[in-house]
Amino acid sequence: MSEYDVIVIGGGPGGYVCAIRCAQLGLKTACVEGRGALGGTCLNVGCIPSKALLHASELVHEAHENFGTLGINVGEVSVDLEKMMGHKTSVIQANTGGIEFLFKKNKVDYIKGYGKITAKGEVTVGDAVHKAKSIVIATGSDVAVPPFVELDEERIVSSTGALELKEIPKKMVVIGAGVIGLELGSVYKRLGAEVEVIEYLDQITPGMDLEVCRNFQKLLTKQGLKFTLGAAVQSVEKGDSLTVKYKLRKDDSEHEMEADVVLVATGRKPYTAGLGAEEMGIELDNRGRIVVDDHFKTKLDGCYAIGDVIAGPMLAHKAEDEGFAVADIIAGKHGHVDYGVIPGVIYTAPEVASVGKTEEQLKEEGVAYKVGKFQFMANGRAKANLAAEGFVKLLADKETDRILGAHLIGPAAGELIHEICVAMSFGAAAEDIALTCHAHPTFSEAVREAALACGDGAIHA
Ligand code: NAI
Repeated sequence: MSEYDVIVIGGGPGGYVCAIRCAQLGLKTACVEGRGALGGTCLNVGCIPSKALLHASELVHEAHENFGTLGINVGEVSVDLEKMMGHKTSVIQANTGGIEFLFKKNKVDYIKGYGKITAKGEVTVGDAVHKAKSIVIATGSDVAVPPFVELDEERIVSSTGALELKEIPKKMVVIGAGVIGLELGSVYKRLGAEVEVIEYLDQITPGMDLEVCRNFQKLLTKQGLKFTLGAAVQSVEKGDSLTVKYKLRKDDSEHEMEADVVLVATGRKPYTAGLGAEEMGIELDNRGRIVVDDHFKTKLDGCYAIGDVIAGPMLAHKAEDEGFAVADIIAGKHGHVDYGVIPGVIYTAPEVASVGKTEEQLKEEGVAYKVGKFQFMANGRAKANLAAEGFVKLLADKETDRILGAHLIGPAAGELIHEICVAMSFGAAAEDIALTCHAHPTFSEAVREAALACGDGAIHA
């Protein structure tokens, strides 16, 4: 039996960051992980592998669409999917191996296997019993599969199977126009598949600023993605091809669509199977999430939970922040997460990024606000790079000029958003960004121009 200050259950972005932070703060720490590799969904079957494929497929698109205009002549561009997947796999291995190295460096014990909480301060992994003063549950989430469909991860796939396809489908139907559906749908569209997205709601990416949503859908449609909105998928039937049956919500009419691959991207659910949570009196809410207080404490004394398994956006960086914060709290310091400044990024091309309030939220809350908007069309760098689609939209308090939110669609939006996050963390006004010198020529000048547009006006508009 081994004794620790902290045992973290789950080695994803929340768990491994928490474990390293605990060790850095002088706590004897172990991290239990059953997948056989550290990094969780994000590194193994999520964020990182999808980004490898997004990047590769964007280059294919560039070659087809823009090389000629840029004066680059190449022969016919073809895709070697096996090699592309091989690159993706090597990136996964390098990253997961990197975390093992960080564990060794920080003296975090890596316990392989699935952990079960068997008593207060006790985690059992296989036959081994480990004791700890504090336990942190960071078991993440799993694909939420609707009852009408059965995944085989070859033809009817979740994001996991979509990252492993052996060949580019002729026709892919994506169920759900959320982040996963649009990122992976656009990968296969760019690689040559016909892609049709069926979404239950009347808009894509629910919860995002509506103006960005509409523009985003227009741009994706221009790239060739097809959308059927306001449609509830009822079943996916297997034959020589797959038949997706759906009902249009407006008139209940029934329709069907054929596909050779169906990607089910209808959300994720918290993962608590085999954890022993309920037996130990740890409360779950009606969506299966572990209930925690403001200090990430569960109903079991000495047991905390963070990341996808608790409430809030299912984002790797939100989990990481909570991992940091709970480590600080356990070490007797002041851990804190600013939930008002958590960026969200969709890694399509162009990227979509947002932070803070949407216009719709501000209207609902009755907040008087102003909008500063700047189109990438008027940004020199974006034009030079043939990437001038989209805009930066900054929302600021009408009275105080304090930045309340930002919504970007365009080149490097996922990087540009962080300047606004830092500004918001410091309670900055739009004028603070407007008065900050931005290097020319950069995409970031569009952020400054949007900030100027909150005041006396953008220069290049
Ligand atoms: P999601 O919750 O973002 O979107 C699912 C969509 O499926 C919704 O729009 C919903 O209305 C639709 N839907 C559900 N049932 C349906 C039906 N029967 N017929 C038609 N449409 C239906 O879920 P998604 O995209 O699977 O992502 C899961 C989680 O992973 C999210 O929390 C997301 O934020 C996170 N994630 C984040 C990424 C990022 O930050 N770039 C990348 C990948 C995932």
